[in-house]
Amino acid sequence: MSRTPYVGGNWKMNLHGDEALALAQSLASVTAMSGPADVVICPAFMYLSSVGDVLAKAGSLIKLGAQDFYAQPNGAFTGEVSLSMLRDVGVSVVLVGHSERRHVLGEPDTLINEKTLAALEADMEVILCVGETLEQRKAGKTDAINWGQTGYGLAGVTADQMTRVTIAYEPVWAIGTGMTATPGDAQNAHQAIRAFVQFGLFNESIAQSMRIMYGGSAKPANAGDLIAQPDVDGFLVGGASLVSDDFAAIVAATQEN
Ligand code: PGA
Repeated sequence: MSRTPYVGGNWKMNLHGDEALALAQSLASVTAMSGPADVVICPAFMYLSSVGDVLAKAGSLIKLGAQDFYAQPNGAFTGEVSLSMLRDVGVSVVLVGHSERRHVLGEPDTLINEKTLAALEADMEVILCVGETLEQRKAGKTDAINWGQTGYGLAGVTADQMTRVTIAYEPVWAIGTGMTATPGDAQNAHQAIRAFVQFGLFNESIAQSMRIMYGGSAKPANAGDLIAQPDVDGFLVGGASLVSDDFAAIVAATQEN
């Protein structure tokens, strides 16, 4: 089954006003897609609206994504941002369960599941991030962790909603460290996640059509070997998404595969 490649740029807490707009402008012109691909960029909340305007004016197909949100529709949740507010400014994709939300901000699986369900209910696309820490990998727990985070994250999701779910496998030890999973390690993890979705959660057709991105120091130099793996369907890119030529080169690598 051939799956349309999917590449996401997670800008994290980087870039101020003009820098964010300049990067969006540049991405809109350099991220040429020679074949089918989905591309999303996720700026900080502050700049979603203006980055969305830049993309729209440029006629870009790049989608607008949010790095976080709160699962409740409105109310007394000081400092939080709802899905409908994100929708208002053109967001159609949300990240859920990113390693930094889990490990730095302390989000538990229960909250991650609540967010996944709320986002799907709000007609958003969800990129659900999973991945093991170095200690867990050394202890041989990679698949168990990925299965656990995938199972908790997707609890209660319907078969129909799965068309709007992408998994991002992001080994925690590879995020922002310059260390990348080998193509073989990435393939093994992706294959195990897909098998779990097939045998443990849904069925073959959902598992085979579900895209699994790789994240963790993805860059132009390693994107080609990673995307050549049968179960690697794209990338969730942090550092390299802040450099338009690098991000464009990663998108291009998915087109050459
Ligand atoms: P990185 O980040 O590419 O800088 O490792 C990936 C991510 O956090 O999604």
